[in-house]
Amino acid sequence: MSLFVTKPMSSLMAEASDSGNTLKRTLGPINLIALGIGAIIGAGLFVRTAAAAAQNAGPSVTIGFIIASVGCAFAGLCYAEFASMIPIAGSAYTYSYATMGEFIAWIIGWDLVLEYGVGAATVAIAWSEYFNKLLEIFGLDVPYQWCHSPFEVSTTGIHGIMNIPALFIIVVLTLLLIRGMQESAVVNAIIVILKVAIVIVVIAMGWQFIKPENHTPFIPAPSTYTDTQGITHNYGGILGILGAAGVVFFAFIGFDAVSTAAQETRNPKRDMPIGILGSLVICTILYILFSYVLTGVASVHDFRTQGKEASVVYAIEHMSGSMIGGVWVPAYKWLSNLVTIAILAGFSSVILVMLMGQSRVFYSMSKDGLVPQVFSKIHPKFKTPYKSNLIFLIFVGCFASFIPGDIVGDMTSIGTLFAFILVCAGVWIMRRKHPEIKRQFRVPAVGLISTLGIIVCGAMIFGLGWTNWARLIGWLLIGFIIYFSYSRHNSRLRNPGKFPPPGHHEIPEDIPPLI
Ligand code: ALA
Repeated sequence: MSLFVTKPMSSLMAEASDSGNTLKRTLGPINLIALGIGAIIGAGLFVRTAAAAAQNAGPSVTIGFIIASVGCAFAGLCYAEFASMIPIAGSAYTYSYATMGEFIAWIIGWDLVLEYGVGAATVAIAWSEYFNKLLEIFGLDVPYQWCHSPFEVSTTGIHGIMNIPALFIIVVLTLLLIRGMQESAVVNAIIVILKVAIVIVVIAMGWQFIKPENHTPFIPAPSTYTDTQGITHNYGGILGILGAAGVVFFAFIGFDAVSTAAQETRNPKRDMPIGILGSLVICTILYILFSYVLTGVASVHDFRTQGKEASVVYAIEHMSGSMIGGVWVPAYKWLSNLVTIAILAGFSSVILVMLMGQSRVFYSMSKDGLVPQVFSKIHPKFKTPYKSNLIFLIFVGCFASFIPGDIVGDMTSIGTLFAFILVCAGVWIMRRKHPEIKRQFRVPAVGLISTLGIIVCGAMIFGLGWTNWARLIGWLLIGFIIYFSYSRHNSRLRNPGKFPPPGHHEIPEDIPPLI
C-alpha cells in the first residue's frame, strides 16, 4: 500500500456520526473573529515581541509582525479551503489524512505536537514570568533558580535549575482538562475583551512616553547578537527582520482554530475568510501599534537585561515615575498590576486550548492506529482522554521545566511554519488532482496564493537560523523513525484485517472541541 494512501471519506463520516458529532451551524463572522482573537493573543505578543526586539530586529520587530501576518493570511486562506473540503470538524491532521494521504498526515500530526504541546510549554514559561510579577505585588518571589531552566543564567550569575511555576500551571490545567473542563463561550468572550483591552490601554497610555532615541535607527545595521545561552542571532538588517518575523509568528499561532469551525459556520463561503482574515487584520493592527510602543518606551538594552522578562510590565513601570530616596517609583503601578493579572488569565486560556488541541489530535491519530491506543483511552467517569493528557503532562511539563522559553518558542514557530507550508502546497495539489471534491470555500488564485504562502513561511523558517533548522530536522527524523517502525505496521487503514473496521469504536460525545 502506498505511503500516500488516503482515509476514505466514508470512514471519516462514520466516525463523525458515531461521536454524535452533528454540528449545528450557528456561528457568524463576529463569533469567528472572537474565536480567532481568543486563540491568538498571548505569549507571542506579551513575551516574544521583546525577545525578537532584543535578539533580532530592535524596533523593526514591527516590520517582522507585518511579514508574519502576510504569511499567516496566505496560509490561513489555504487552511480554510482545506477545512471546508472535509464535512466534519477536525484538525489539519484529519483533513490531510483524507486528502493528501497517511504519510503527509503523519508529518502534519507530528508537527502539530510542536504547535500545541511545545507551544503550551512556551506559554507556560511566559506565565511563570508574569506569575513572579504577581508575587512581587505581595512582596514575594520565586528564587531565580526555581523559575528558570538549567540553560539560563541571571545577570548576577545565578543558574536556573527548574521552572516550577511553569510546571505548576501545566499540572493545574491538565487536571482541569481531565475533569472535562472546556472553556465556555462566555469565558472566551471575557478573555478576548480583557486581552484586547490590555493591548489598547498599553498603546494609548504608552504612546506619549515613546522616546525617539529608542526608535533610532529603526532598522539596526546588520550585525550579530549572542544571547545569555550562547546562541548567536542575526541582528538588524533584512536577516534580523526575517528572524524577528519567525519569532513573533508565534503571536499569530492559533488563528487556524477558526478553520476548524468551518462546519459550525452558517455561511462558510462568506464567513470563513472574514473570520480568518478579520481576526488576523485586527491582531496585526494591534500588534504593530503595540510593538511600536513597547520598543519606544524601553530600549533594546533594557530588553536584553532587566526588561528581558515580563517585558510589558517592565515597560509600563518605566514609562513614567520618579526617584524617591534612590528608589524608582513607577507612576502607573496600578496599571502594571492589572495587566499582570489579565495576562495570567489570558495565558491560561491559551494553554488550555493548546493542551486540548494536542490531546484531540493524538486522540484521532491513536484511533487511526498511528500512535498507541493509550492515547485514546477514555476515563470511565470524566469521559476524557485522561491517559493522553497525563502523558502530555509529562512531555509538556519537561519542556516547560527544563528548556528556555526562547528555544521552545522558536521550535513552535518553525514546526507550525513547516505545517503551514505543507497545507499551502497540499491545497494547490488537491485542486489539480481532485477538482471534483466539493469545497465550501475556495482560495482565489490558488496557485499564486499557495506559492506566496510557501515563500513567506519559508522566508521566516530561513530567518529562524540553523539552530532551529537543526531542531526541526531532528524532530522530523524522530517522527520518521516512529512512523516506519510503529505507525505503518499499526495503521488501521493499512492493516484492515488486523483491526475492527474504522468508525466502529466508541468515541465519547464530549471529546472537547478545539475551542
Ligand atoms: N498565539 C498564541 C500566543 O501568542 C499561541 O500565545
